[in-house]
Amino acid sequence: MRAKRVVLAYSGGVDTSVCIPYLRHEWGAQAVVALSIDLGQKEDMEQVRLKALNSGASEAHVYNGQDVFVSDYIWPALAANAMYEGQYPLATALARPLIARLLVEVAEATGADAVAHGCTGKGNDQVRFDVSIKALNPTLKVLAPAREWGMSREETIAYGERYGIASPVKKKSPYSIDFNLYGRSIECGILEDPWAEPPEEIYGMTCAPADCPAEPAYVTVGFTCGLPTALDGVALTPVALIEQLNVLAGAHGIGRIDMVENRLVGIKSREIYECPAAVVLIAAHRALEAMTLPREVTHYKQQHVEPTYAQLIYNGLWYSPLRTAMDGFIAPTQASVTGEVRLRLLRGQCTVVGRRAPQSLYDDHLATYSATDSFDHRAAEGFIYVWGLPTKVWSEVHRR
Ligand code: ARG
Repeated sequence: MRAKRVVLAYSGGVDTSVCIPYLRHEWGAQAVVALSIDLGQKEDMEQVRLKALNSGASEAHVYNGQDVFVSDYIWPALAANAMYEGQYPLATALARPLIARLLVEVAEATGADAVAHGCTGKGNDQVRFDVSIKALNPTLKVLAPAREWGMSREETIAYGERYGIASPVKKKSPYSIDFNLYGRSIECGILEDPWAEPPEEIYGMTCAPADCPAEPAYVTVGFTCGLPTALDGVALTPVALIEQLNVLAGAHGIGRIDMVENRLVGIKSREIYECPAAVVLIAAHRALEAMTLPREVTHYKQQHVEPTYAQLIYNGLWYSPLRTAMDGFIAPTQASVTGEVRLRLLRGQCTVVGRRAPQSLYDDHLATYSATDSFDHRAAEGFIYVWGLPTKVWSEVHRR
């Protein structure tokens, strides 16, 4: 017996469904509590809950995690402009520490001695779950049946049928898809060939740029202390703001990403992402920071903090002292990031076309080339003499 009472992260798919009888019959669990979390994946969560019970769960719970997902995970990532390898806004990666937290909370509340997830041994998600769970409660066991059972897809389905789990009705799509409010990840099938152009059928949140309206749409994103709070001047709850932006930007083909990325487990993988709202919000947030943060803070944040922050999210270190320390750096930088950014959305391109901020550091009198110019042009000469001195000395010594 590996554990008495197990809380399982349950998505409703074949693998997590088969985990239920597997945990009970192969690993001796007396009770499996299924926990399903609504992260904006647009599924009928009551159906998912019933499926867990039909698969043999002793209890099945659904938790709406969308608000917490945004406030505690997406917003901090946005403050860091987090994009893994400069491209992936980390929608899947950000959801894992939240799921881990809820698993641990339910385990503690129901007296479970273990938590379980359906990840295989090849991906990043297993790392994110295991490390997050251990960080939150080192005494809980973490079980990952699909990492150990060694069954092929057909064997998994056959195993499930023995315990009354219906095999998937429609022919299973060849793709592995993860979906939440902040974006969609698509892997497998033809996408495993990095030379093959992604077929249009894989996309679910975005219109093909060629089929998008020929007229641009404009959207103004309002920020308060670094957090998005309004679209086109209308204050919105965080979840509604992201939902609306997904629909609007998705309709203009924004947010498709095709990349080969470096997984933590050493494998390169071809990934397709769709993240319309994330792409718009990060572009807007960066533009507002450009107006309100001093040069040195901007450069230090961009060069040293943001890439590291994205990596720690990707690599499963959300609940690490490093993130706490980095949040400590980021928090004061966001205090003046209040204002509005206007963006044009057109056939897959999202372009910042305007920005304004009450605490803007942009000074018209310094910037202008017109008569109102207040910059002391003569001061430049001495500055350039000192600035260029090391280069000049080097040249004098090395010049032939
Ligand atoms: N490669 C991406 C990541 O590591 C996406 C993973 C998708 N996960 C999934 N279970 N389909 O964040």
